[in-house]
Order: sequence, then C-alpha cells, then structure tokens
Amino acid sequence: MAKWGGSWVRGGEKAGAMSKVMNTFWAAVLGVSVLGLGAPGAVAQGPGMMHGRMMGALPQWMGNAAPSEATIQLGRMLFYDARLSTAGDVSCNSCHDLQRYGVDGLPVSLGHKGQKGTRNSPSVYNAAGHVAQFWDGRTPNVEEQAKGPVLNPVEMAMGSEAEVVARLKGVPGYARYFSAAFPGEADPITFDNMARAIGAFERGLVTPSRWDRFLKGERSAITQQEMRGHHEFMHNGCASCHNGAYVGGNSLQRAGSQRPWPVQDDVGRMALTGLETDRMVFKVPSLRNVEKTGPYFHNGKVTSLEEAVQLMGRHQLGIELEARQAQDILSWLRSLTGVIPKDYIARPKLP
Ligand code: HEC
Ligand code: HEC
Repeated sequence: MAKWGGSWVRGGEKAGAMSKVMNTFWAAVLGVSVLGLGAPGAVAQGPGMMHGRMMGALPQWMGNAAPSEATIQLGRMLFYDARLSTAGDVSCNSCHDLQRYGVDGLPVSLGHKGQKGTRNSPSVYNAAGHVAQFWDGRTPNVEEQAKGPVLNPVEMAMGSEAEVVARLKGVPGYARYFSAAFPGEADPITFDNMARAIGAFERGLVTPSRWDRFLKGERSAITQQEMRGHHEFMHNGCASCHNGAYVGGNSLQRAGSQRPWPVQDDVGRMALTGLETDRMVFKVPSLRNVEKTGPYFHNGKVTSLEEAVQLMGRHQLGIELEARQAQDILSWLRSLTGVIPKDYIARPKLP
C-alpha cells in the first residue's frame, strides 16, 4: 500500500519545515480573516469560505454510502456487549464510554483483569473519518481497528477469532441480527462481519458543535474570544497539523518537531516500522471535544488542557504562548465541544 509511505506520514524534519512554511502562509491568510471580522462586508467571502480550505464542518456520516439500518443496529449491540471479552466484563464502551465523549477519562485504560495498557484511549467520536486508526496509525480504518481490542490480551483478551465466533453463535438471538445485517450470506456470524458491523456503527458517531454552525455561516455561533482564539490557532501554526473537519486526524507528525518531546519511552510509529524517521511520530489527534477527552497525549500524562496547549506551542512550534493567547485558544477549543447523539448511542437491549 503506497499510502503507508505517503505524504500523510511525515518525519520530524519535514514536519518542522512544513510548519514553518504553513506559519508564513497562515500569517498571510490571517490578514484577510482579521479584516473580515473587524469590518464586516470588507471581505466578499463568508466565514465558511474564509476557513473552508483549512477547516471544515463535520459530515453527517463518515464514509461513502451509509450501510443498512440493520448493520448499524447490530454494530451498536456489539459495541456495548461485554460478552466479546473473555471474562464477559469489558466492552468497547468500557474504554470508549459514549456518554462521556467516547473516552474513559483515565491516563491509560484498564482492560482484562484490570490490566493497564500503555496508551490513552482516544475518542471513538469523529474517529472513523481519520486517515488511519490508533495513535501510530497502524490500522487503515475502523472496520479493521475493531478486530484489535477483542483479541488484545490486555483489553478484551479473547483467545482467537474462532473463539469470538463461537461466543457469538452461543448467544441465542444474534443469528437473527447477523442475518438481517448481512442478508444472503449462508453463515453470517463471522469475525469479519462482527468488525464490519461495529465499524458501521462507529461511522455515525459524529458530534457537530457551534463551530460547525459558524462554518456554515452562522456568525453569532462563536463569541469574540473564541474567534480570537481561532485566529491565534491559525496564526501560530497549530493548524499546520490540526486542520480539516476533525481539526487533526489527517496526518502523522513527530511529537517534538521543534524541541524534543519531554517523555520518550513510547517511540510511536518507529516501534512499528523500525525507521529512525518515525521516532516519536504519532497521529495528530482530532481536537473535536478535546475539552472533554482528557487526560492528554498518547500516554495520558497531562491532565490540564491549558498545559497541553502550552506544551504544543513549545515543542511543536518553538514558541512560548502568552497566557492571554493560550486562554483565547482554549476558548476556541471549547467551541469544538459537540452534541452527543443521544438517540443514536442509546444502549440497545442485547440478545
Ligand atoms: C481496555 C480498553 C479498551 C477497549 C476494551 C477497547 N479499546 Fe479502543 N482503544 C483503546 C486504546 C488504549 C486505544 C489506543 C491504542 C493505540 O493507539 O495503540 C484505542 C483505540 C481505538 C480506536 C482508534 C481511535 C483513533 O483515534 O485512532 C478506535 C476506533 C477504537 N479504539 C474502537 C474500539 C472498539 C470498536 C472496541 C471494541 C471492539 C474497543 N475500541 C475496545 C482502549 C480500548
Ligand atoms: C507539527 C505538528 C503539530 C503542531 C504544529 C501542533 N500540534 Fe498539537 N499535536 C500534534 C501531535 C503529533 C499530537 C500528539 C502528541 C502525543 O500524543 O504525544 C498533538 C496533540 C495535541 C493535543 C492533545 C490532544 C489529545 O487528545 O491528547 C492538543 C490539545 C493539541 N495538540 C493542541 C495544539 C495546539 C493548540 C497547537 C498550537 C499551539 C498545536 N497543537 C500544534 C501535532 C501538532
């Protein structure tokens, strides 16, 4: 797959150079944005146009054609079903609590027998649209991703794919839902179909916020301070990595592109590829709902969002943000807190 060596995976040097270029670029664009704000009507473009190239509104659905309602319904059940874990006590929702913005709020998650993993659980909201899954981008999409935790010995710890299938076949009632979701298949209860259904459900986990309303033209959806924060975010170069509809999630970059990252026991993508250029390279996280998804970073070591923002300035951009700038950025980040789709995530009755 050419994609794996492709342009969305950037090593440190390139990322550094890239962010400098982008800073200059955005400083130029900022001139336009500030004008637009200060003197309404001075710029012909609406807010959506102004920010459209770099930022975008969330889609309603992350992917091409939406799958059938039956597939989504099955995926929702499986997401909540702890019987997919060996001891019957851990479900996807244990670590990605849909009521809590898709995270568990812990530095690193607790799985089978309370064992700790080594990484912070990212949100499943707005994740399916990312360029790849996991902190190191090791899996191309949510359907493939869903196979990982079920078999992971510190997460749900099932022994094998066959064991998972046997477990599902042993639940009277699932046959009907698998048949409805995968019509025409002689033996629809398979490991792959389980993952397909979970992925289908995850593709609908979007949380539009006031920021989306603003991007669609509702200027009053965002306060003055939030707007200032957005400008700071653009002007200082945060958006060279955190951009697009997910404000991140579309490239891999080095943590510490300007100054070495303070903690380096997890080398990120390098552990996967063995390449020195991948040292400390992680997927740029989406900043959607970031106010609610702490603690922060791949190891969940930072609990304060303000500190996370300051660390980013220092290590990714080589600047010290003034307290006022950081406060404005924080206020814009909070405008990315969206609405949880209560009906879509309602816990279903399990078969
Ligand atoms: C024991 C806790 C735990 C359980 C159970 C668990 N996850 Fe995760 N999940 C994590 C952690 C930790 C990561 C990050 C691991 C990494 O990047 O190496 C993760 C990553 C993900 C991601 C990637 C998100 C992104 O932004 O890259 C998705 C999607 C996801 N999990 C969905 C699921 C699904 C679906 C299930 C159930 C089949 C599940 N998880 C079960 C802890 C868990
Ligand atoms: C060169 C690319 C780059 C730039 C520029 C950048 N970031 Fe990041 N950002 C990342 C990466 C990579 C991570 C994940 C690092 C890790 O987990 O170790 C991250 C993580 C974050 C997090 C933690 C999110 C979470 O869920 O854990 C926040 C908040 C954040 N960035 C905000 C900002 C802000 C604000 C700026 C500008 C001051 C900025 N970033 C500039 C690449 C960048």
